[in-house]
Amino acid sequence: MSADDTTALPDQPLYLTVADELDLLIAQGQLAAGERLPSVRELSQRRRLSATTALAALRALERRGVVEARPQSGYYVRQRPRRLPEPATSRPPAAAKPVTVSSIAARLLAASNDPDIIGFGAAIPEADWYPVATLQRHAAQAARRHSQMIGEYSPFFGLPALRHQIARRYAELGVAVDEDEVVITNGCMEALNLALRTVAAPGAVIAVESPTYYGLLQLIESQGMKALEIPTHARDGLSVDALAAALAGPEGAQIRACVVTPAFANPLGSLMPERARQALVRLCERHRVALIEDDIYGELDFAGQRPIPVRHWDRSGSVLLCGSFSKSLAPGARIGWLLAGRHRDAVRMRKFTTSAGTALIYQHALSDYLRTQAYARHLARLRRLCANNVARYADAVEQHFPAGTRVSRPAGGFVLWVELPRGTDTLALYERALFRRINFAPGPLFSASGRYRHCLRLNCGRQWTPEVAAALQALGRLVETG
Ligand SMILES: Cc1ncc(COP(=O)(O)O)c(C=O)c1O
Repeated sequence: MSADDTTALPDQPLYLTVADELDLLIAQGQLAAGERLPSVRELSQRRRLSATTALAALRALERRGVVEARPQSGYYVRQRPRRLPEPATSRPPAAAKPVTVSSIAARLLAASNDPDIIGFGAAIPEADWYPVATLQRHAAQAARRHSQMIGEYSPFFGLPALRHQIARRYAELGVAVDEDEVVITNGCMEALNLALRTVAAPGAVIAVESPTYYGLLQLIESQGMKALEIPTHARDGLSVDALAAALAGPEGAQIRACVVTPAFANPLGSLMPERARQALVRLCERHRVALIEDDIYGELDFAGQRPIPVRHWDRSGSVLLCGSFSKSLAPGARIGWLLAGRHRDAVRMRKFTTSAGTALIYQHALSDYLRTQAYARHLARLRRLCANNVARYADAVEQHFPAGTRVSRPAGGFVLWVELPRGTDTLALYERALFRRINFAPGPLFSASGRYRHCLRLNCGRQWTPEVAAALQALGRLVETG
């Protein structure tokens, strides 16, 4: 790879980009522990860098503790501790439950807004992982160009230019999407809300991954629906066999919808294999159960091979795909979408009665941005940052958490699911951690049945700093001392 291939961004010196790339190779095991890195001369020749830049990159890796310098010999990948095992497939109860996770969620979100607390709680990366200045420029241009915008209603279903860009991106993946069925929403949360209310009524049973995103559980709670937790594996995601068994079971006839995040689910980071994704679509079709796909993390695969959404295999228009730019590009823009398939008219009506539109300024800014090549470059950098940080946080867990801990090994996204030794109570731990100004997401938040009390989710979206390293060490000690 030459320096020209390196996706250096204006806000990051080139040597750090080179260090990030080497770091990723190490995190992925392509450069193994004990292996020698290219010398300064090799690195500068291979990538057409100056010797100063190459040396700075190697020194940055040394400061991160990833490599060590051996006198007269060069830089070597440091030995890593043995990898912790992954969590096993979950075993939730077989009956659907009314949901009550709101009070824990409210505390977590309040702590997440406190700048003095180290934020391993909400799944939010650093603002400077996003192209903030460029997007602001597009927003300012949009405000100038459409100077009457604030005096007018926006189109209810979204700006046609943005709907076109979203449909185009799916088309590039081979997923046929008609622009007409794209409804712009206020984030993925509104998309999930519209999708759920379109296909299910209060009292309905909704099949979900276990553990699953607490925002979804809160939505189910607020709609008076019940959640049926389906066994889910930390690597392979929702068990299609277990869903099939639930559909054939006593509550099967009441299951109206299945909500699933096939790519890099929150909190497990799991990725459903392609065959399982296809089988899931067929199963839901057979049982006439609506399939709501949450695709919010789809762009954040570490390997740069974006998984194909399940919507691709949908023949009957029954998949409702919910997405958003909140994780991949612009959390503050609150721009998401719902690909409504055959439910388009019902979804449009609900969008009107829910929020009657989405503010125009960032729709313009994002659709202008998406017309450039910048998004691909930004995503390449974001994926690297996610992969590096997840690897580094996982290393810290291995180093500092007690024996018996298990940790997920996501291939995308930026959260880790940590299973602590049985008997650990993460709700009690939460109080002690907050007292030390450390935030994390306790396990029961991710279950309708109060499970996962011995688990927690770590947001790995905070830049790696000595404070972050110290906070993870302190958290490990808190777990150990019970
Ligand atoms: C799986 C999942 N779906 C949906 C959302 C909500 O997304 P948004 O911020 O776009 O509303 C989140 C946010 O954390 C999430 O993790």
